[in-house]
Parts: sequence; C-alpha cells; structure tokens
Amino acid sequence: MQTKLWSVDKNVDNPKNYPQIAQAALLLRENEVVAFPTETVYGLGGNAHSDKAIHKIYEAKGRPSDNPLIIHIADRNQLNEFVTQIPDKATKLMDEFWPGPLTIIFEKKPSELSHVATAGLSTVAVRMPSHPVALAVIKEAGVPIAAPSANSSGKPSPTKAAHVLEDLNGKIAGIVDAGATGVGVESTVLDCTEEIPIILRPGGVTKDELERVIGEVRVDPALKDQNEAPKSPGMKYRHYAPKSPLFLVKGDRDKLQQLVEKERSEGRKVGVLTTTENEGFYHADEVIACGTREDLATVASSLYDVLRSFDQREVDIIFSEMFPSAGVGEAIMNRLLKAAGNQMIE
Ligand code: TXA
Ligand code: MG
Repeated sequence: MQTKLWSVDKNVDNPKNYPQIAQAALLLRENEVVAFPTETVYGLGGNAHSDKAIHKIYEAKGRPSDNPLIIHIADRNQLNEFVTQIPDKATKLMDEFWPGPLTIIFEKKPSELSHVATAGLSTVAVRMPSHPVALAVIKEAGVPIAAPSANSSGKPSPTKAAHVLEDLNGKIAGIVDAGATGVGVESTVLDCTEEIPIILRPGGVTKDELERVIGEVRVDPALKDQNEAPKSPGMKYRHYAPKSPLFLVKGDRDKLQQLVEKERSEGRKVGVLTTTENEGFYHADEVIACGTREDLATVASSLYDVLRSFDQREVDIIFSEMFPSAGVGEAIMNRLLKAAGNQMIE
C-alpha cells in the first residue's frame, strides 16, 4: 500500500489546508486508517463504528487485541451515543480539561461502537484532543475515531510525522503532517467509573491539576508496584523501548560517567540521555539532551524523539538520568521506566 502524505499547518481555517483534511476524512469514512497529529502524540485513526477499520489499526501496529483503543471525539454530544451516564466529576473534568490531554473512562452502553475497539470491555475510554488538525479531521469524518498512538507496538510513540513513517510506511493509507506535536507524552487515562477516580496512566494532565477540580484522585497501585496487575490493559506491555538496552541511573553524574567508562573500556558504544544542564559534562559516544530540568514540559516534549535518536545512532547501551516524579515528571518517569524494562542502577 502506498502511504499518502499530506502537509498542513495548524491554521485549519486557512482554505489551503481543507483539501488535505477532506481527503484524510474521506479515507476514514471508507474505513481506511490514517495517522494525524494530536497535542500529545500522533494517533492512528480509524472509524470507531467499523470492525474492519479497527482490525486494520491492530494489524498495522502489531498491537495485541486485548488492548482497547481510545475513542476520539470532536463534540461532547457524541458521548451520548455510547456512554451510559456521565458522572458529575467527569462533567467537571471535561469542562476544565477538554479539549486536551485527558482520557476519561466511562461505563459503555450498547451502541454502534465496534467491540473490537473496546476489546470487549464494559467500559470505554474517550478523549477530545485539542490539536486543531485532530479536531478538524474528526469533525470532517463525522464519526467517532478510535486512535492509538501511531507507532509500531512496543516502540516509542511518534511525536513527528517522520516517526510515523519510520514505523508504518506502506502499512497505512495516509499521514497528515502538521509538524511536531507539543506535549510529547500521551494523555492521562482516568477511570471515572469509581466514586474516587483512578489514574491508570499518568500523562499530560497532572494529578494535582485533577485534584484541584474534583478533590481526591487515586493512582493505580500497579504504577508503583510491579507485582500488581494494571487496570489498564495497555500498561502491562513493555513499551517506548529503544532497540538497545536502557538503564536508569540513580545517583549523581559522576556515577553515571563511571558506568559509561566501564562499558566503553569493554568496546561498547554508549549513549547518555541527559538535559541541557549536564550535556557538557559527559564523555560518551552519543550524549543527547532531552530538554531542561528547569521546565520538565520540555523533557516530555522531546523524550520520544530522543529515544528514537539513540536507535538511529546505533549505540549498544544507553544510560539515562532520572527525573523528579512531580507534575509531568510522573509521566516522564513512568515512560522511562517502561522503556528501560524497569532496569534501574541504584
Ligand atoms: O494521548 C493519547 O492518549 C494518544 C493520542 C493518539 O490520543 N493515544 C494513545 O492511545 O496513547 P494508546 O492506544 O497508545 O493508549 C491507550 C491506553 C492503553 O493503555 C489502553 O489499555 C488504555 O488506554 N485503555 C483504553 N480503553 C480502556 C478501558 N476501557 N479501560 C482501561 N484502559 C483503557
Ligand atoms: Mg501507545
């Protein structure tokens, strides 16, 4: 299959962008799968009413079929089609954070929604993205759009169209390219079917931000304890992983540099994931700065691009600094630990 590539800019009201968005939406209505940018990462969209389209998503990504997809909508009224009731707390959260990087899990009612998309669960995950191109594509398609991140299963999520091409060229109908995404880590997944909502995946909206609006929020114990089974099926898989082994290093930069030297003395090509503050300190084969510690949003924004760069530079082993687990740091550390298969050097 030839993968079409359309370039647009964020100014979706500019008529020059309309033909590309209309073509992408038409393919979605024809049950083809198309990648498009959201404010978090690129998504691989398919018509959520069509089993055929959803099968294409799982196939292109090589995704396990027990891992449900997030349904993306452009208008809150679309919720009534497939959600039983909307809890008050969910309403408050939608008022505050939609459109934006928050996915809410609701109880599902019988509807046209593909059972394949929800992996046969009695609940459904829904989000309204804030990226103008995502909203325009969903609106124009006229149906809810199921969309996982547009990477091959197990790889870091794509934050640029080039990342989508790397993984899915020839396997999907098209890619709408509107440049780099922004937030860089995926949406926060929040289960609102419980009286006290539970974070199943930390992401672009932080726990503090949620608690400011609805009071107490819990965190799935599996996020901290490897022996617990995660409530979100997708969280049990190794994910975000570069090709070479990645180790998180607890301790100061001298300790990390010593680890680098030991590996290099044994002939291995070593990569270091750091920030602009420490970039000049390390001597390794590839030292890549991932944003600045002064603003962790910059780290989130470039994290997946940096993980993919190590693949391109073909290092044998990667050592990464750690980040504080506060604010968006929670999502950064969650993704880094997964990318490292939980391998930490203390
Ligand atoms: O930012 C994002 O959320 C991106 C963009 C494209 O919107 N999408 C994304 O989708 O990250 P995906 O498929 O890579 O991750 C969806 C996560 C998975 O961990 C999945 O298991 C979980 O949401 N999920 C989906 N439906 C669920 C449900 N009913 N109950 C629990 N977890 C669910
Ligand atoms: Mg994903």
